[in-house]
Amino acid sequence: MHATAADREVAEHFDLAQLPSSFYADPYPTYRALREHAPVKRMPDGSWFLTRFDDVVPVYRDHRTFSSDKKKEFGPKFGPTPLFEHHTTSLIFNDPPLHTRVRKAIVGAITQRHIAAMEPDLVALVDGLLKGLESKGKVDLIEDFAAAIPIGIIGNLLGIPHDERGPLRGWSLAILSALEPVLTPERARNGNRAVTEMLAYLKTLVDERRAHLRDPDTDVLTRLIVGEPGSEPLLEHQLLHQCIFLLNAGHETTTNLIGNTLHALSRLPEPKAKLIAQAGDVERMKIAVEEFLRFESPVQLGNRITTQEVLVGGVCLPADSRITICIGGANRDPAQFPDPDAMDIARDPNRQLAFGFGIHTCAGINLARLEGRVALGRFLARFPDYALAGAPLRDLRARFRGFQHLPAIVRP
Ligand code: HEM
Repeated sequence: MHATAADREVAEHFDLAQLPSSFYADPYPTYRALREHAPVKRMPDGSWFLTRFDDVVPVYRDHRTFSSDKKKEFGPKFGPTPLFEHHTTSLIFNDPPLHTRVRKAIVGAITQRHIAAMEPDLVALVDGLLKGLESKGKVDLIEDFAAAIPIGIIGNLLGIPHDERGPLRGWSLAILSALEPVLTPERARNGNRAVTEMLAYLKTLVDERRAHLRDPDTDVLTRLIVGEPGSEPLLEHQLLHQCIFLLNAGHETTTNLIGNTLHALSRLPEPKAKLIAQAGDVERMKIAVEEFLRFESPVQLGNRITTQEVLVGGVCLPADSRITICIGGANRDPAQFPDPDAMDIARDPNRQLAFGFGIHTCAGINLARLEGRVALGRFLARFPDYALAGAPLRDLRARFRGFQHLPAIVRP
C-alpha cells in the first residue's frame, strides 16, 4: 500500500484502548500518521487525541477551559477506592484554587537551593553505582543504575531511611500503572494495595518528623509539614498524598529518561561519539539533556477535560470532552522541530514539552534535569564503550515510555 494511504488507515483506526503490540516498540510512525491525517482524532470512546505541537500548547496554556480535575473521569474508573482518593487529591489532577495552594507548598519545598545542595550527594550516589557496575561487568542498566538514582534522590529528599526504601519502587509502579488507558482488575488491585501500604508507611514517617522537626530550609518534609510562611499548612491527608505523589512523580520518569537515553545512544553512534567528547562540558550536556527529553519523552501522554465548548485545531469540542495530549507526538512535530526523528544533541532552540507546560509544568523540572545530566554525563565518561547485551525488555505501557530491563556490558 502507498505510504500515505497506509498512514491514513493507521490514523483512521487508531484507538488508545486497543494498541497493537508493535506500537510500544516504536509509537512514532503512528503519531506521525495522526499528525498528518487526524491531528484532533476522535477515538471510539468519544475522547480526543492531540498530536500537533501547535494544538497541544494552547491546551496546556488555558487551564480554565482545559481542566486537570479528574474526579469525573476517575469516579467511574476507580470507584470509592484508595486509588481514587490518591489520584484526585494529588496536585497534578487538581485545578486552582487548591492546585495553587498545594503547588506553592511543593515548589517552596523544592527550591533551587535545596536542589543545588543535593548535587554532591547525587554525584556520590552515581559514582557509587558506576563502581558497582564496573565490578559486575554484565549489568542491567535499569535495575543497577537508572532506577537506583531517583529512589536514592527522592529518598534523600524526604529523609526516608536507607533501609526503608525497599518497597518504594514497587509501590510507585503499581500506583502509576493504574493510570494506563486500560485498567485491568490486576492493576486496580495492585494499585489500591500500594496506596494503602504507602499511606501507612508515610504516616509513620510524618509522625516521626513532626515529633522531631528539622530545618525547613534544608529538609523538604519539614517544610511541607510546617507550610509556607503566611499560608495554612496542608491538611494531613493532603500532605500524605502529596508525598506519595512526589515519590511517584520523580521516580519512574527519571528512570526512563536515563534508561531511554542509554538505549537510544547505543543505537546511534554519531550523537554518542559527540556526547562522549563533551561529557564533561556542563553547558553542552544541559542542551543535550533537553534533546534526550524530546527524543524519547519519559511521559508520553497527558490528560485534560474541557469545561466549555472550544475549538481545537479547527475542530469544535463540546464541554466535558476528554482529551489526551500526546507529548511524544508533539515533540516529534516537524513544524516545530526540524528533522524531528534525528537526535541532535546540540538542538537549540528546543521547546520540548516533556515536562508539560503552563500551570502544571513539572515541579521537579530542575531536579530531573540535574539527575539526567549528572547520571548520563558520568556514565558516558566512565563507560564510553558500553554495549547492549541481550534483548531489552520494554514496559508495555503507553503513558510512561521506558524499559523494565536493559542488559548491557560495561567496560571502562
Ligand atoms: C525526567 C523526569 C520527569 C519528567 C519527564 C516529568 C514530567 C512531568 C509532566 C509531563 C508533568 C505535567 C503533567 C500535566 O501537566 O498534566 C509533571 C508534573 C509534575 N512533576 Fe514531573 N517529571 C519528571 C521528574 C519529576 C521529579 C524529579 C519530580 C519531583 C521530585 C517531579 C514532580 C512533579 C510534580 C510535583 C508535578 C505536578 C505539577 C503540577 O501539577 O503543578 N517530576 N511532570
